[in-house]
Amino acid sequence: MSKDLSIAVVGSGYVGLVAAACFAEIGHTVICVDSDEARVHMLLEGGIPIHEEYLPELLSRHRSRALEFTTDLRRATQESQAIFIAVGTPQSKSGNADLSYVDAVASEIARSINDYKVIVEKSTVPVYTNEWIRRVIERNGVPRELFDVTSNPEFLREGTAVADFLHPDRIVLGAETERAAAVLQQIYQPLASGSYYALANAVPGPRREGDPPPTLLTSTKAAEIIKHASNAFLAAKISFINVVANICEAAGADVEEVARGIGMDSRIGPKFLRAGIGYGGSCFPKDVAAFRHVAEQMGVNFGLLSEVEKINAEQKRRFFQKVRSALWTLRGKRIGVLGLAFKGGTDDVRESPALDIVGQLLQEGCLVSAYDPAATARTNEVLPPGPQMHYVDDPYEAAQDADALLILNDWQEFAELDLDRLHYTLRYPIVIDGRNLYDPATMLAKGFTYLSVGRPVMLHARDAAVEHRLP
Ligand code: UDX
Repeated sequence: MSKDLSIAVVGSGYVGLVAAACFAEIGHTVICVDSDEARVHMLLEGGIPIHEEYLPELLSRHRSRALEFTTDLRRATQESQAIFIAVGTPQSKSGNADLSYVDAVASEIARSINDYKVIVEKSTVPVYTNEWIRRVIERNGVPRELFDVTSNPEFLREGTAVADFLHPDRIVLGAETERAAAVLQQIYQPLASGSYYALANAVPGPRREGDPPPTLLTSTKAAEIIKHASNAFLAAKISFINVVANICEAAGADVEEVARGIGMDSRIGPKFLRAGIGYGGSCFPKDVAAFRHVAEQMGVNFGLLSEVEKINAEQKRRFFQKVRSALWTLRGKRIGVLGLAFKGGTDDVRESPALDIVGQLLQEGCLVSAYDPAATARTNEVLPPGPQMHYVDDPYEAAQDADALLILNDWQEFAELDLDRLHYTLRYPIVIDGRNLYDPATMLAKGFTYLSVGRPVMLHARDAAVEHRLP
């Protein structure tokens, strides 16, 4: 691999920690900085604050060799050639991205600069943030020739973050000077040249030595927009298929067949066409709102994004209506819930549609028994256990004597349940699946009443008879 660089990564959240571990993995010397002393202490002690495949392996491979953790941003800045800002950009009350952490970090970096540094925006930020960072650093008296501000957006997904980082579809490098672009290219050289994939212990993924990711060199502003536009487009794709699912429900068609048919058009592609209970997580909701605000501030009407948000909210409401339609009244009903995180494969519950639905069930007086392979501890912090809310250790415990079982995210484990066991565990064999993990005909054959998204309702003979008599 190429000559290594010294890199500081500021922020040890999902993006920062994964980036730090992966930069060490491709041969660089990395200092990961966080102002949260407890978190740094945990990382120094060998703890891993997030659930992410391959992260434990990479941390134990590089910790205290190529990767160190500190709260000392000054030292990290002085010892590094490139400083990646990967701090949070939460949504402010107005919907804008709150850039106060980025501002504070930029000022601190400015006060510490001793020689030429490439400052890299890794967090998702609105266009023009690079210019603000530049201004903040100049205001602190740093001469223009001592730094460049660049943008290197990150497209990793939670749950598969390490593999996404090391096997990206593309590497986007936004820089205004050749000097800065050269540093960024050197950092990514082991991926862009394919040399990383030839290593025996490389993290597995789709890229190969002969098929490395392409690098796209752009302006800094274009790179900032690429990130927001990518997330907004993907969110729009999900909202689009969710409305199509609602049409399928009304028409008696199956959205899975329709999605397959749409996705075979190579201009559209098959990914992100899974209908469900709406998107959640720390990125899509925040980034769609922020991009809409960016457009507004520039006098551009992006009403499409408001629709995307409305449809996403409506999708959760429709799912809840399904629960009501299957159970009639809700007070006192015992509901088994599979899935709390905003999707399978992660412990993250931020903006989780599942938590929204669980919150509504509790409000309506249901008794909830919930299971998630990784997200129980985090859900506990926002929905503490109590007389109505129980956390259990496996899917069948959640289903035990329940009036219905709800599937709210897509862990593989939820798609592989023993249906016979599930049937006799439930009080009533009703499954309401917000992620379309089962084949409706199989569920009916197994004796379930099965409701999913954008597909025909399967009524068990007993329910079908009642339905027939209802007005
Ligand atoms: C997303 C982007 O994919 C990633 O590129 C970016 O860097 C961060 O935001 P992430 O939030 O980890 O990643 O999750 P992702 O897998 O994209 O799913 C987002 C949400 O959309 C989840 O709630 C998921 O369940 C939902 N989703 C996704 C669907 O409802 N249908 C789909 O077809 C795909």
